[in-house]
Amino acid sequence: MNKMQVKKIKSLVAAKRIGKLREEIARLRNLYHVENAPNVTDEVYDSLTRELKELLKKHPEFIDKNAPENRVAGKPLDKFVKVKHKTRMLSLNDAFSYEELYDWEKRIQKLVPSQKLNYFCEVKFDGLAASLTYENGIFVRGATRGDGFVGEDITQNLKTIKSIPLTLQSPFPSFVEVRGEALVSKKMLAKLNRVNEKEGKPLFANTRNVAAGSLRQLDPKLVAERQLNFVAYDMLGDSLALRTHSDKHKALGELGFEVEKLEAKCKNLSDVIAFIQKFEKVRPNFPYGTDGIVISVDDLRLQEILGAVGKAPRFMVAFKYPAERATTIVLDVKVNVGRTGALTPLAIFKPTPVAGSTVSKATLHNMDQIERLDLRIGDTVVIEKAGDVIPKVVEVLTKMRTGKEKKFKMPVACPVCGTSVEKKGAKALLSVAYYCVNPKCPAKNERYIEHFVSVFDIYELGPKILRRFKDEGLITDAADIFTLTKEDIAPLERFGEKSAENIIKEIEIKKKIPLAKFLWGLGILHVGEETARDLALHFGTLEKLISSTQLDLNEIDNIENIGGAVTKSLHDFFKDKNNLNFINKLRQNGVVVEKAQKKKAGKLTGLTFVLTGTLSQMSREIAKEKIIALGGKIAGSVSKNTAYVVAGVDPGSKLKTAENLGVKILNEKEFLDILIST
Ligand code: IVH
Repeated sequence: MNKMQVKKIKSLVAAKRIGKLREEIARLRNLYHVENAPNVTDEVYDSLTRELKELLKKHPEFIDKNAPENRVAGKPLDKFVKVKHKTRMLSLNDAFSYEELYDWEKRIQKLVPSQKLNYFCEVKFDGLAASLTYENGIFVRGATRGDGFVGEDITQNLKTIKSIPLTLQSPFPSFVEVRGEALVSKKMLAKLNRVNEKEGKPLFANTRNVAAGSLRQLDPKLVAERQLNFVAYDMLGDSLALRTHSDKHKALGELGFEVEKLEAKCKNLSDVIAFIQKFEKVRPNFPYGTDGIVISVDDLRLQEILGAVGKAPRFMVAFKYPAERATTIVLDVKVNVGRTGALTPLAIFKPTPVAGSTVSKATLHNMDQIERLDLRIGDTVVIEKAGDVIPKVVEVLTKMRTGKEKKFKMPVACPVCGTSVEKKGAKALLSVAYYCVNPKCPAKNERYIEHFVSVFDIYELGPKILRRFKDEGLITDAADIFTLTKEDIAPLERFGEKSAENIIKEIEIKKKIPLAKFLWGLGILHVGEETARDLALHFGTLEKLISSTQLDLNEIDNIENIGGAVTKSLHDFFKDKNNLNFINKLRQNGVVVEKAQKKKAGKLTGLTFVLTGTLSQMSREIAKEKIIALGGKIAGSVSKNTAYVVAGVDPGSKLKTAENLGVKILNEKEFLDILIST
């Protein structure tokens, strides 16, 4: 035998042994993680893994990135790192009826009047959105959606999901981002809940909660136990030569992803509705939780033109299956005190399963609602819930009354601080709201702290823990959280060293906060998440915003999307010394508000456009939106300051004026070229 032959035989023997080792390691891992039945000591497992590693070192030709030994990344992490998404991860607008689908079509058809709209339908999974980045075909990073702009790096956890390829099938683009849903099967949910029930632990409400809870585990081994799956539904990249959304699904399958087979190309909404009805029949037996059908305009060029408004694209909509109903008994009506001091009645039910989760309470909104329903404590009621929508009481079954039911009365004193309650709003105006007028009411303060902390994404600090800290006198306001120490928390019952350490670590990491989030957290009237972002982008720093609210209200008024009510409430908020003191205290306690990147200048910055005539590819509204998004301005009439006049079909007198003034005139094709070119 020559050297080559010996080498070949050695390699064959090694291949066999590697195969066996892989099989056995996978079996033991499954026993350990999934069946919870470790019938082998750690030493045995470790020794087999060691042998495999040694063999692979000698025979690198058998290294397989997709093999089981590469699936579980051993060590638990001590925190998740933030990842900025290259492209914002949006959410979807809902349609709850066929009528709403037709309204959606009408709205978008108006924006692209002469275009034939073809649709693509796919299942809407009830899991957790994830984004996977592949560079040169290798899975390099996986992230959660987070707030759509910034998510958390959960690469290690995602690697435990078998349907996520660690390397792509060729040919693959040099860079691609794949988006999809991480899922847990209905069977796994039932299994976990059987265990939780036995152990007296709280049950998971739905498959989404299990998926989310699993991927937020710092230890990938725990994630592996849950046997998650991943279905891909979108891909992004610069050099993808794809024309339609359905092409994307096909390409995803070819790259090695699992793509749901139940999908359909539809020529019109009647076909879409037929698909919705077809899936509705198989939905109860579908292995994964689903809450509707996602409908997209199939043509990617039209998707680009239609773009997004706020958080959702215009070219996609989620059809949600109708609400499910169930009956239950009202055990009690409690009263919650909100951030503004408003008293809200809350019905407490005998826990009942509806639409994939267990419902045990629902808001009754106000006294009017209780009177309208004629709801009494002890009543049997019909409740309704659609997907992830908040449950509500739709009807009281008065025939079920025994005579023992009790009417609910709004308390005359705040249930939390005892201060007398005031009515605001007249009956004539339909709604009467009850408020606790004590500005120092602990409930208001508590809700405020909860909101503020949630904006910092300090996951360890849920409402229960915050209340505990407050009761123990550790915090009086949200700023106190940032000076907590391990020694403060560890002695508390049910905490201990380890959990105290985790909490402190998490707080330390989250002390830096982007300006937009900080503004949202402050809870300024009318300043929600989107408005806070607009303000942050415009002003860049908190100082500039504060001084503008006191000096130059015009500047705020002139920001796009911001109205007078916001301006006034910003002015009032930053005039109040208490609020400024609170901000100072936060800073002294180590909170760092990060500057926002001011909007970058676009390629049309400094150029003014005038539109005349009808465009065939898009409505005027969309054309304006695109110009503004690229930094350009729109004017109603032509002057020597006009950079371009865009002339569609049947242009008006503006075209003549442009010719007279020597302003450059663009036809529709030239205009589109300018929009598309980079
Ligand atoms: S398309 C614009 N397709 O639904 C973002 N989303 O309500 C929509 N989802 O965050 C992406 N199944 O987590 C799309 N087949 C599907 C989906 C799907 C589930 C989730 C996704 C998204 C959420 C929006």
